[in-house]
Amino acid sequence: MKNDPKKILRYTPFERANHWLSAITFILLAISGLAFFHPAFYPLTQLFGGGVWTRILHPFIGAAMAISFGVMFFSYRKLNVITPTDKEWLKHVREVVDGDDRNMPEAEKFNGGQKLMFWLLVGCMALLILSGIVIWRAYFAFLFPAAVIRLASVVHAVAATIMIALIIFHIYAAIWTKESIDAMLYGWVRRPWAKQHHPAWFRQMMGGDK
Ligand code: HEM
Repeated sequence: MKNDPKKILRYTPFERANHWLSAITFILLAISGLAFFHPAFYPLTQLFGGGVWTRILHPFIGAAMAISFGVMFFSYRKLNVITPTDKEWLKHVREVVDGDDRNMPEAEKFNGGQKLMFWLLVGCMALLILSGIVIWRAYFAFLFPAAVIRLASVVHAVAATIMIALIIFHIYAAIWTKESIDAMLYGWVRRPWAKQHHPAWFRQMMGGDK
């Protein structure tokens, strides 16, 4: 596949491994976090070796996700700067949903929707990390007054709920845009795919102007 001239590299092996590390840690965090959130989900703690182990492991898995997402943040932040073309793209998003993307403003490596999603994820991650540090009983919570810990618990739960909704949408969009999962699994995309979904990026990869 690597030497196939009809394909373009979209994600390097490192980028893919790191993305899937974020995905796996996210799922583990969502499952263990829900177990703390409501008694109905408590049986999920069995997957982590019981309640005590779940409580020990959750923040460490969170630290792994923070590092992994941090790498994605620094790798993709410039590619996700929202331009006037992206704002136009977002205004026309209805056409994409209706299955007619012929008259859409030209997307770069990431389209307006992906860029918006990126910044929403960055916001949620920042809130989750900061509030997570405050409520990490074993190491940091003793540094903060009780009122701050209570507030941080609420912020953590709200940010996590929004993040779960965003990731459900992200997965839905990834499945809905055919071949996009292949890009994140194998790294390469077909030229017609790139031309259809990310024309400005396609031209750039072909050596033309942006
Ligand atoms: C759990 C299942 C997940 C699936 C199936 C999935 C799928 C994908 C796919 C297919 C792409 C490539 C899109 C493209 O090239 O146009 C992608 C990109 C990306 N994913 Fe995920 N993802 C998942 C979880 C996550 C998580 C948990 C995060 C972050 C916390 C994340 C952050 C990103 C980012 C930042 C990109 C770069 C492009 C973009 O913003 O769309 N993903 N994902």
